[in-house]
Amino acid sequence: MKVLIVGSGGREHALAWKIAASPRVSEVFVAPGNAGTALEATNVAIAATDQPALIRFAQQHQIDLVVVGPEAPLVAGLVDNLQAAGIAAFGPSAAAAELEGSKVFCKNLLHTANVPTAAYQTFRRGEDAARYIKDLYPESDASVPVVVKADGLASGKGVIVCSTRREALDAIDRIASKREFGEAGKELIIEERLIGQEASVLAITDGATILTLPAAQDHKPAYDGDQGPNTGGMGAYCPTPLVDEAMMSRIESDILVPVVHAMKRARRPFRGVLYAGLMLTAAGPKVLEFNTRFGDPECQPLLMRLESDLVDILEATTHGRLDQIDPPRWSERPSICVVMASEGYPGDYETGRVITGLDRAAAIEDVKVFHAGTRLVDQQVLTDGGRVLGITATGNSISGAKLKAYQAVKEIRWPGAWCRKDISDKALRS
Ligand code: AMP
Ligand code: GLY
Repeated sequence: MKVLIVGSGGREHALAWKIAASPRVSEVFVAPGNAGTALEATNVAIAATDQPALIRFAQQHQIDLVVVGPEAPLVAGLVDNLQAAGIAAFGPSAAAAELEGSKVFCKNLLHTANVPTAAYQTFRRGEDAARYIKDLYPESDASVPVVVKADGLASGKGVIVCSTRREALDAIDRIASKREFGEAGKELIIEERLIGQEASVLAITDGATILTLPAAQDHKPAYDGDQGPNTGGMGAYCPTPLVDEAMMSRIESDILVPVVHAMKRARRPFRGVLYAGLMLTAAGPKVLEFNTRFGDPECQPLLMRLESDLVDILEATTHGRLDQIDPPRWSERPSICVVMASEGYPGDYETGRVITGLDRAAAIEDVKVFHAGTRLVDQQVLTDGGRVLGITATGNSISGAKLKAYQAVKEIRWPGAWCRKDISDKALRS
């Protein structure tokens, strides 16, 4: 079988690594890939947004399965267009990917399906949103525990968690007037700020059968102790003890099953990865958001633990026969991924720094270094993004895996490299 993976992040490196390990697969291509995917597969210089070129490549090379990693091409209809050209593709249609592409669509669907989520209001105009806050909180020094979100895609950054009235009004201004997140800010949501621990529960579904993967926990804020601005995710581990078996059944029955049904009823049947970002509140699990793809970095620790052939699962999903395969096997050993980032991320950062120590890190047992924002120039690996590497390790325990991952982090250097030092500590505390 020949497989084409679309994307260039840590998730796509992990997918390439796992898919290349399948005995059924003869060739793996990644478009456009990074310096890490080049070690597992053949990189193809086609952007994830260049649909005509991707379709042409898949036809010319007789690709048997295309796996689409990131959200933007899914929302733009890449899977629909590949299928229309007769090419099997893993991932939701554009109509189904709207669950991630529009937070307003997602909230309204959750509301209709009676799925627990934060109370919310949607606005088209910044003035109306500001008036709403001012009417609700007339005191200028009021504590205002809300979250302001741009409707559309913003690489995890269009979400602003607020505590004060000033912060809320400022967030509305940034999204609606300054348009910091561009078109994504055409509509905005103000929602109740929930309190609790976060968990990522990913499920693979063909629209009928739902296969839930072990729960993971991401670390969205940039700095230790969950301080600082939101990022795409600074690290993750799996499984998280925050979601025990009883909690998982509740998440399946109260959240995943009703959402898959609601999508079917809305004539947007969902096929692919349904990723529930959850807050585990005192009143039970509530949905923060849905993503329609593997999480990055959750994908890295998840795939480190998967013992079954990923290609069997992806293919069965694509062909609507997920009920016919054996349930996947998972290693008992927990895993963790620590993201190493460029100086300045999630704000502006420079690229092109030489990364050293990759071989020493990779030589450590139970460690796999997944590349995210990297590129290969003259045999040197250079930084090429905000999130640069995902150092992933397994161990006999979460703390054992953590130790290994940070041991590998120490080997890797470039000017300005940094990472959170507390990935997985929330598990150890719980
Ligand atoms: P989202 O992209 O919607 O998942 O939001 C990104 C991050 O913002 C989440 O992972 C949470 O840390 C935080 N967040 C989003 N919505 C809420 C909420 N209603 N209450 C508290 N935190 C939230
Ligand atoms: N790790 C969060 C995301 O993939 O959106």
